[in-house]
Amino acid sequence: MSGSERVAPKRLHVITWGCQMNVYDSRRMADVLAPLGYVPVAAADNADMVILNTCHIRDRAAEKVFSELGRLRLLKAARAASGGRMILAVAGCVAQAEGAEILARAPFVDIVLGPQTYHRLPEMVARAAAKGDVAGGDIGAGPGAIIETDFPPEQKFDFLPEASAPQGLSAFLTIQEGCDKFCSFCVVPYTRGAEMSRPAASVLAEARKLVGQGAREIVLLGQNVNAWHGAGVSTGAGAWQGAAPDRGSWGLGRLLRAMAEIPGVVRLRYTTSHPGDMDDDLIAAHSDLPMLMPFLHLPVQSGSDRVLTAMHRRHSASDYLRLVERLRAARPDLALSSDFIVGHPGETDADFADTLALVRAVGFAQAFSFKYSPRPGTPAAGAPGQVPEAEKDRRLHELQAVLREQQARFNAGCVGLTLPVLFTGAGRHPGQIVGRSPFLQPVHVTGSASLIGSEVPVHIAAAHTNSLAGTTLVGTAPAGTSPAATPIEERACA
Ligand code: SAH
Ligand code: SF4
Ligand code: F3S
Repeated sequence: MSGSERVAPKRLHVITWGCQMNVYDSRRMADVLAPLGYVPVAAADNADMVILNTCHIRDRAAEKVFSELGRLRLLKAARAASGGRMILAVAGCVAQAEGAEILARAPFVDIVLGPQTYHRLPEMVARAAAKGDVAGGDIGAGPGAIIETDFPPEQKFDFLPEASAPQGLSAFLTIQEGCDKFCSFCVVPYTRGAEMSRPAASVLAEARKLVGQGAREIVLLGQNVNAWHGAGVSTGAGAWQGAAPDRGSWGLGRLLRAMAEIPGVVRLRYTTSHPGDMDDDLIAAHSDLPMLMPFLHLPVQSGSDRVLTAMHRRHSASDYLRLVERLRAARPDLALSSDFIVGHPGETDADFADTLALVRAVGFAQAFSFKYSPRPGTPAAGAPGQVPEAEKDRRLHELQAVLREQQARFNAGCVGLTLPVLFTGAGRHPGQIVGRSPFLQPVHVTGSASLIGSEVPVHIAAAHTNSLAGTTLVGTAPAGTSPAATPIEERACA
């Protein structure tokens, strides 16, 4: 297709579940379909194509996909009845894990594609379009549906086009995919495949592009992001372009240092990390790089060594506590977030008490906690000692009460401080703007929309369950606003 050739616009609706990597992938799927004329729209009605980007991490996540497919079946049939066509694709981790079941339960689906095949989407769409609906929109593609769930030999990142739609002030950038850890409970190694890291040069090029499109904060993503180890570049970060590769010698700490040198980057974050992959240089980066935000999501899953061993987590509770101590020594205001699973097979009351003890010892600013959900094909699903549902409920309830209290205490501890807030958009009320604190809390202030895009000091006046409110110390954004322009307290929220 020549550059001047115009393609009739087609409506693309993407529904995304799951982790931030799925959010990133959804954007990349839209990028890959843009040259075919697909333009993202907010609703599925009348869409020419709908993609469900799915998550398989827990039972309920997968069930939501099938209930959404029920609704889309009607929309697809309605579109066919009015002479149109809706191509329906299921992507993501449910597609990877249950491709055949999707087609058995929802034969009206046209395309099932795994997370490593998105770069092949245009070709799949062309095939689906050429084939047409087998027996009208209601039946759809049926047995002739396209399934692409192999892990292809080529890397999708080498084939995806450059991001075309700007992501805004805070941008996701996937640097690592897959996982080789095989925790007993987890589907990720099966749905996302083996761990792979993108080369530093390609990551830095994408970061520059994002900054050029207006991003001020870059969030590096990976299922196991701190396992990232890439072919680096041989000279200083400024000279990465065209530099000779220095294969395998970079870890995430070094990549973050190079990212910090990109003009225009104000904040850096990375998620999600495994405690076993926090190396010395990465810990030191927390001390050396003020723009590396003092908030770290570091899942521990359990505080019991017995359960951690059963989970194949490769770290003990005391390893985790020691690591937290080292991180806090490097960055005293570091706030921590974590993931917990209650009711893993074999978890006793005493094990659960160890989890509560670890939570109390660390003091989390925020956390996610889940009931163990058996995932087909994972070792824990068939393990003895499955915990009754009612017991999981009880433990989850108790754990969440402690975590909620810690979050409330952390937020309350921010009141009276002055924190740098990166404003990202308008608030819900007229005259209000919203941004994020370094600790990822949403912060609402009454202030000028001209502050959106700047990081400015905010005096925190009130704390709510999940957010803060305050007043800005500057009325409008001064030219060339820099985070260092106004002194900002370095204290952490208590
Ligand atoms: N890579 C990250 C986590 C990825 S999945 C890590 O290593 O920690 C996100 C979270 O979902 C996990 O941290 C875990 O707490 C939860 N999770 C994963 N599998 C689960 C399961 N089978 N049941 C309940 N929660 C699960
Ligand atoms: Fe899943 Fe994370 Fe364990 Fe990998 S390290 S298997 S992604 S929980
Ligand atoms: Fe879900 Fe797959 Fe992410 S299972 S959490 S979408 S890696």
